[in-house]
Amino acid sequence: MTIKAVVFDAYGTLYDVQSVAAVTEEAFPGYGEMITQVWRIKQLEYTWLRSLMRRYQDFSVITADSLAYTLRVLGLKHDAGVFERIMEKYLHLDLYPDAAAALAAMRGRKLAILSNGSPGMLNALVHNSGLDRVLDATISIDSRKIFKPAPDAYTLIESVLRVPPAEVLFVSSNPWDACGAKAFGLNVAWIERVTPEAMALACVKNDSVAPLTMFKAIRTQMDELGLEPDYRIHALAELPALVAAHES
Ligand code: LAC
Repeated sequence: MTIKAVVFDAYGTLYDVQSVAAVTEEAFPGYGEMITQVWRIKQLEYTWLRSLMRRYQDFSVITADSLAYTLRVLGLKHDAGVFERIMEKYLHLDLYPDAAAALAAMRGRKLAILSNGSPGMLNALVHNSGLDRVLDATISIDSRKIFKPAPDAYTLIESVLRVPPAEVLFVSSNPWDACGAKAFGLNVAWIERVTPEAMALACVKNDSVAPLTMFKAIRTQMDELGLEPDYRIHALAELPALVAAHES
């Protein structure tokens, strides 16, 4: 297999969605972690619910709706300024520390993002983090009006990059996305950033389970969907060697 393009999921894969925690904690002291986890869980849930209901709204609407849900159910009163300040962080999420170097080391192949994010959110994020200098394309599912893991969303890789699925390596740390990409027919590297051993430890060490541990249990571990990613890695830093090993 020759890998002509390496395509990345954005949120949770190149960008750390947990990096909103400082802003949520500053806005609502004591609630930061709970807000961060419920927000992300609901955000993803809304993409799937809206896709099933065929009531597409773009990811910026979904991200605002899921934040509104989170603050409401936690009984947190707020004004528009606070809400906007939290939302703003989505345009300035932290890159994983090994992201820029991994991308730079794979120059020569087509490098792109395929994300559920809206074009506006993604372009701002990619620009603010400097990845616009290394990426050949930032692809939003918005033109298909259906979210990953719907097969239609993954077809955009070939339409935009002109590289067939057999020559694409798709990289995601989101298990649902890795499974969706595999079901579609892409070669898939899943980033297992949290091991089951670390999960077990986080549970036995504490009297009560933290929201982050709960999040990791439901959103970072491989799903039971009868699909196996082709590669299981633990960090973006492992990618350049993996891609080079497939050189023909
Ligand atoms: C992405 C998300 C939703 O597609 O992780 O970037």
